[in-house]
Amino acid sequence: MSVESGTRIKVAVQKSGRLTENSLDLLGRCGLKYSRGKDQLVCFGENMPLDVLLVRDDDIPSLVQEDVCELGVVGLNVVEEKRLGFLAAGIAPLFEQVMTLDFGRCRMSIAVPEEFSYQGRSSLAGKRIATTYPNILERWLAEEQIAAEVVTLSGAVEIAPRLGRAELICDLVSTGSTLAANHLREVETVLESQAVLIRTPVPVAAEKVSWMNKLLKRMDGVQQVRESKYIMLHAPRSALAEIAALLPGSEHPTIMPLEGTDEKVAVHAVCRENVFWETLESLKAAGASAILVLPVEKMLA
Ligand code: PRP
Ligand code: ZN
Repeated sequence: MSVESGTRIKVAVQKSGRLTENSLDLLGRCGLKYSRGKDQLVCFGENMPLDVLLVRDDDIPSLVQEDVCELGVVGLNVVEEKRLGFLAAGIAPLFEQVMTLDFGRCRMSIAVPEEFSYQGRSSLAGKRIATTYPNILERWLAEEQIAAEVVTLSGAVEIAPRLGRAELICDLVSTGSTLAANHLREVETVLESQAVLIRTPVPVAAEKVSWMNKLLKRMDGVQQVRESKYIMLHAPRSALAEIAALLPGSEHPTIMPLEGTDEKVAVHAVCRENVFWETLESLKAAGASAILVLPVEKMLA
C-alpha cells in the first residue's frame, strides 16, 4: 500500500463469489477508477483516496468491526451471524448497517433429505440441524419455540445428512441447484438475505470524512437510480390529475405546453419506482399518448 495509506478509505469486498462483480460495479458507478494490485488482493483507487480490499466474505464484518476497513459490502446472512456473535460476547459498539444494496439476494433455509416426511415445524423437534450459521439458526429456533440441536460445521453442510452428522441442514439457497444435487428439499426460510453496506463503529478520521460522506451519498444515488425512470408523455388536460396519480413514486411532474394544441400538454416526471408495462397500459387507458420511458444515469438528492 502507498505511504499515505493512513489517509485513504478502505472498503472490504468479497474476493470471489456471488457479490464480487456487483460490489465492484457499485464502486465503479460511484465514479471510482482503480487498478488491481499484482497480488489481486487490493484495488487501488486512482481518482479517489479509496482502496478496495478483496477478502473472504466471512472476514468482512470483523475487518469493519476492527476499523481495518471503514466500509464493507457483504451479505446480510454473514452480517447477522457475526452481529449476533459479537452481541453474545458483549462487544460494543458494533459496526452499523448503512443501507441495503439491491443485489445478492438469497435465503437461508432449512432443507430435508428428499425421503424425509416433513409435516411442518413440529417435524424439526429433536432433530440435529447442520449449519455454518449457528447464531442465526439458534435465534430462529428460539423464536419458533422449536427444540432442535444445532450442529455447527465450517463448510460442506449439504453432505452432513449423508455422513450421518445431522438429519437436516440449514444453509444459503440461491438457485437451489446445490440442494437438488444433494437430494435435499427446502422446507423453511430462516432469513431473507441480500448485500448490505456496513460501516465501522469508530468515528471516521477527520481527513477522510469529506470523501466518506461523498461516497455514501453517491452510493445512495446509485441505489435510487437502479429503480428510477424518466417518463415523458402527452396528456389531455382533462386527465392530468388521473395520469399524475398513476406515475409511480413521482412527486412534482413538469407540465409543458404543446405547440398547436390547448387540449394536450407534455408531462415529464422522474419515477422513483420501476415502471412496468402495466403502468404504461394504465396511462394509455387514462388518455396518455406518445409515452417514453428513459433510464436515469445519475441522481443526487
Ligand atoms: C452457498 C451455499 C451453497 C450455495 C447455494 O455458498 O453454501 O453452497 O451457496 O447456492 P445455489 O442454491 O445457487 O446452489 P456460497 O457460494 O455463498 O459460499 P460461502 O458460503 O462459502 O461463502
Ligand atoms: Zn463465505
